[in-house]
Amino acid sequence: MKKILIVGNWKSNKTEIETNEWFQRFTIYDLRFTNKEIIICPPFTLLSNLKSSILNHKSFIKLGAQDISPFDEGAYTGEVNGKQIKEFADYVIIGHSERRRYFGESEDIIVKKIEMAQKYELTPIVCVSDIKQAENYTRYTLIIAYEPLFAIGSGNPDTPENANEMAKKIKEIIDAPVIYGGSVTSQNVKSFTQMPSIDGVLPGKASLDANEFASIIEKA
Ligand code: PGA
Repeated sequence: MKKILIVGNWKSNKTEIETNEWFQRFTIYDLRFTNKEIIICPPFTLLSNLKSSILNHKSFIKLGAQDISPFDEGAYTGEVNGKQIKEFADYVIIGHSERRRYFGESEDIIVKKIEMAQKYELTPIVCVSDIKQAENYTRYTLIIAYEPLFAIGSGNPDTPENANEMAKKIKEIIDAPVIYGGSVTSQNVKSFTQMPSIDGVLPGKASLDANEFASIIEKA
């Protein structure tokens, strides 16, 4: 049975109080699946809080960051580096289309970030919207998230067939798990995870609601 990855990307959402509420609600569900890996990627400010909640509740959730500095520790105002992230998380999202679009992230920077993640033994979850981007990462050990631009935050997901075709093409050039992201919900999750080349999903908006996220996990 393939391992299904479910990566919740909280983006720039939630305060500490809202996170505690989310966690309380989520832990009501007794979700334990040996073939499903659940990763939450909150903003940096919530990593410490979530790490404590996970330890206290012996929760199966793993943590990821949403970004990483391309530099090591030092005089880089505003950046959070790999060594700091590793204290809380095992994964890091890199090259999300929102970072490419709103923060001007180039392929050069993305590659530097992947290398930093590897230095600190963080698994990079690198987002791509086409094959050309994926070609830049063939020499790294990582997870690829295929996220077509039209599907992100639009309520208009890609078709499972097309997403599977893209995942298959990506796997022809990179030996990596490929997950799908873009308007994933509990209603459509299974249609993606049942596809042979798709190894999981990356819900954004739907991961913010604990009930909906639990339902995604259940149905995946
Ligand atoms: P969405 O976001 O599920 O809200 O479309 C997915 C993503 O951007 O990672």
